[in-house]
Amino acid sequence: MSSPVWHPFTQHGLGEPIPLVTHAEGAALYTQDGHRVIDAISSWWVTTHGHCHPRIMAAIRAQAEQLDQIIFAGWTHAPAEQLAERLVALLGHRWPYVFYSDSGSTAVEVALKMALGFWLNQGEPRHRILALEHSYHGDTIGTMSVGARGVFNRAYTPLLFDVGTIPFPAGDGANTLEALEQACRAKPAALIVEPLVLGAGGMLFYPPGILRAMQAICARHDVLFIADEVMTGWGRTGTLLACDQAGITPDIICLSKGLTGGAVPLAATLARQPIYDAHLSQDRARMFFHSSSYTANPIGCAAALANLDIWRDEPVLDRISTLGARQQQRLERLPPIARNIRRQGTIAAFEFGPDDASYLSDLSPRLLAFFRERDLLLRPLGNTIYVMPPYCIEEADLDRIYGAIEEAAAHFA
Ligand SMILES: Cc1ncc(COP(=O)(O)O)c(C=O)c1O
Repeated sequence: MSSPVWHPFTQHGLGEPIPLVTHAEGAALYTQDGHRVIDAISSWWVTTHGHCHPRIMAAIRAQAEQLDQIIFAGWTHAPAEQLAERLVALLGHRWPYVFYSDSGSTAVEVALKMALGFWLNQGEPRHRILALEHSYHGDTIGTMSVGARGVFNRAYTPLLFDVGTIPFPAGDGANTLEALEQACRAKPAALIVEPLVLGAGGMLFYPPGILRAMQAICARHDVLFIADEVMTGWGRTGTLLACDQAGITPDIICLSKGLTGGAVPLAATLARQPIYDAHLSQDRARMFFHSSSYTANPIGCAAALANLDIWRDEPVLDRISTLGARQQQRLERLPPIARNIRRQGTIAAFEFGPDDASYLSDLSPRLLAFFRERDLLLRPLGNTIYVMPPYCIEEADLDRIYGAIEEAAAHFA
């Protein structure tokens, strides 16, 4: 009998095999049928230090013995308090308030709602959101609304709210900055961006100078600036936050994925003082109206505290720069079938094969199957191949990944 499980982003009608993973360690996944698979995409960009990092596992075990779950409206617990304090300090007290949720999508929903609440409570309701072309911010109705339209959300398009789309930077980014300047004159509530790297949009990169200029335009026009660091945060782009490379402090930032080292779900939306102050009142109607059952789950918070310990005690940034340099060496050896070769921190990407391959082209599943046969978890976005492994990956495993990519180049040429 076939499994009753309905998997995400999976066309079950194609009958493709779905490997069963029994355990994982570092950059390796082990399947029931005895394969050791290299996790070349950090299990959808979440695993930073490696799977089952002993300190994170120990923290989860200890917390599970103590307090599993508690309503977070009107109640609190030590891991949530400590984590918020440590996050605020780690990020230089730029965002003094931490609002917890449980996924990247909810972190973004929270950010958007904070922005709208801010304007309403200021007595100047604003509802328009600006977003960058090709963006991805999640799969809920709200986050799809601020993301690119396409085959992913065609069925839901009539329900998605309208946003102002700012073109993706080309060349010196003048197209983006002029469009943003223009759009800001209409006094939108906020601009939301993925800083430096648009992930699901195809690993599209743009330079810190353009990020800085976008933030400056928003500040000048009094438009809130939201940075979705769900994918880029926790060292992915070479620095703790991608925004650090532009030297900017957005009004709101969204964190998830690597917040717990990728071990368990948790998210945090961090806000600057004025956002919090706009909701602070004796009037209950002005409170921030958002919650979900697992807000600030204690086990998630304990895992995140262990993640912060790892950042404090281990040479994480050195590992990141070593991984980046090793990726760079391999990228330079790629054959000509690989186009637009690029790297930002630990993220390496390039296009493969014909120019016009869309997400649904058959190249992507063929590549996926090719890599799976070679015990690699690599999941191309259309014809964009990207390598984004956990920071602990061994050199030999990275060699295997790039060896298979070179083999694919010969096979599919
Ligand atoms: C930039 C960005 N924002 C939000 C999300 C949504 O996160 P989640 O899948 O945890 O809801 C993702 C997921 O990949 C992402 O890359």
